[in-house]
Amino acid sequence: MIDTRFKGRDFITILDYTKEEVETILDFADVLKEKFKRGASHKYLEDRTLFMIFYNQSLRTRNSFEAGMTQLGGHAHFLDPGKIYTPALEGDEVAYSTERVSDVARVLDRMGHGISIRIYGDPVDWIYGKANRIVREFARCADIPIINMECDIFHPCQGMADIMTVREHFGGFKGVKFVMSWAYSPSVHKPLSVPHSAIIAAATVGCDVVLAHPEGLELDDEILAATRKRADESGGSFEIVNDMEAAFEGAHVVYPKAWTSKDLIPPIVEKPMLEETQALFDANKHWICDDAKLAPADRDVKYMHCLPCDRGYEVTNEVIDGPHSVVFDEAENRLHAQKAIMALTMDRVGGVGDGG
Ligand code: CP
Repeated sequence: MIDTRFKGRDFITILDYTKEEVETILDFADVLKEKFKRGASHKYLEDRTLFMIFYNQSLRTRNSFEAGMTQLGGHAHFLDPGKIYTPALEGDEVAYSTERVSDVARVLDRMGHGISIRIYGDPVDWIYGKANRIVREFARCADIPIINMECDIFHPCQGMADIMTVREHFGGFKGVKFVMSWAYSPSVHKPLSVPHSAIIAAATVGCDVVLAHPEGLELDDEILAATRKRADESGGSFEIVNDMEAAFEGAHVVYPKAWTSKDLIPPIVEKPMLEETQALFDANKHWICDDAKLAPADRDVKYMHCLPCDRGYEVTNEVIDGPHSVVFDEAENRLHAQKAIMALTMDRVGGVGDGG
């Protein structure tokens, strides 16, 4: 059966998709993964083009999107903002150095079939929400799908790969205690997008989600409210604690990762308060995922991380290289989840089910 519900839609946050739609994407990702493993053709996007704009570094995101488009029969162009005219919002333009986002979006819209964007942190001076505004401006101006490859609020493709990995290991989501925890890093340059998307994704599909962090490292109130609503709707649950050890008790999944303090970056404060953030981080160096912290967790607990991780700070080598770690399954699933998202939103015939 042809499924046209996704055709032409943007993928900026999982909050734009229902539980059922999220599960449809996961089911299709499983199909694509199986075809990939078997070497079966699945060219749903033959002759199609994805433009990928990376304002930030990337290993997993760039290569999973680029390889994914090749495997789907299309092509992904890598665009370095410094080598085009850097797409900028009205008011941020610099003559012959930038180009208004609305113009870039409308040009690429005429030439291809999807635009994906990664932007957070330094390119927007750590002004929380500004990167998301840029992604949404692309979406407002282009008719072709816009895929968020990580902004300062969301990393939805990571969230999809995360729950795909959970489902593979637990066979479903009901009763799965999913712990998203802050962990120490010597770098404060860490966006909030991964924890936001992880808790949204896990709550959407019905996990028992626990968010753990030291005081002062709260996530965005709107995201917390949306996560609570999703958990209520899915039959899961959502709880916030300030103790890593307590959070890990009985956990099936732990996802310890650093994120910065939203209260120490603009627009809450005038400019990023790096020294104050560093002091807050340094007061919480004991938030590291090691074997002792995992001991009270479920005996088959899975350790997850989006990668890259800060070994020796966020997690010990013993844990990330040990039997509980599923980080490479998680990285691999970026490929399959994103191929499903691209095929469903960018398909040229009218929906997945009639090709491949
Ligand atoms: N997890 C993730 O987004 O990795 P990259 O920064 O390497 O793309």
